[in-house]
Formats: sequence, structure tokens, C-alpha cells
Amino acid sequence: MVYLTRKEHFNAAHKLECKDWSEEKNEQIFGKCANKNWHGHNYDLWVTVKGMPNPETGFVLNTQILSKIIRERITDRLDHKNLNMDLDLGGLQPSTENMTIWIWNELKSHIPAGELHCVKLQETENIFAEYYGE
Ligand code: NI
Repeated sequence: MVYLTRKEHFNAAHKLECKDWSEEKNEQIFGKCANKNWHGHNYDLWVTVKGMPNPETGFVLNTQILSKIIRERITDRLDHKNLNMDLDLGGLQPSTENMTIWIWNELKSHIPAGELHCVKLQETENIFAEYYGE
């Protein structure tokens, strides 16, 4: 089995807060991500597909196709957007963890060859989350 990864990038704004909590508690739990006037992150996204290389092309999946799918399904919809207001996360926080699950669900049935293996999303230099579909 070969694991093929395409890296993409987007910038987006968000805010993490529980509306029932005080401003102090939100700041305590979510830190800078609770800033009431929003803030942005420069997100790096890795999408990994697994499979065996096609005997003719040598590709698990043509990366031009994979890039186009990620662009159309994910980065065009998220880039320079407000993840709280422009995206329907079903009331969930736009945390790195929840975003990996959302991205997985948006991609999984659109991969034309191989199988989606991992969505990795890096929010800051020191924090990233990975989702493997379970
Ligand atoms: Ni944040």
C-alpha cells in the first residue's frame, strides 16, 4: 500500500467560545482563540490517499486531480472565510479537531482512485490534528 499526500493551504478566521460561558471562562479555556473580535490562522492541510499505483501511470491518484478536488471541495470554500459564520458545522466549534472531521466528510466520497486515509490540519506552528475516519 502506498500513501500519497497532497499539501494545500488556506487562511481563515474563527472564534472559539461557548455562548453560555462568561468572557473570563471562554478566555481561560480557549485562550487567544476566544478573542471576541475574531482572529485568523494560516492553515496547512495535508490530505493522504492510500492505494496501489496504477500500472500505466504509476500514480495512486493523479495529484492534479487530487489538488482540484481539495480546492473545489475545501480550500475555495474556506479560504479567507469566517469559519463560524460562513460554514455550517452543525453548532460545533471550528476547532482544528472538528475541522479535520468536516474536511474528511467533504472529501471521502469524492476521491476517484485509492481511498482517503488521513486529513491533517495544522493551525499554528505547534498545533495540528489528524483524522483517520474513526
Ligand atoms: Ni484560533
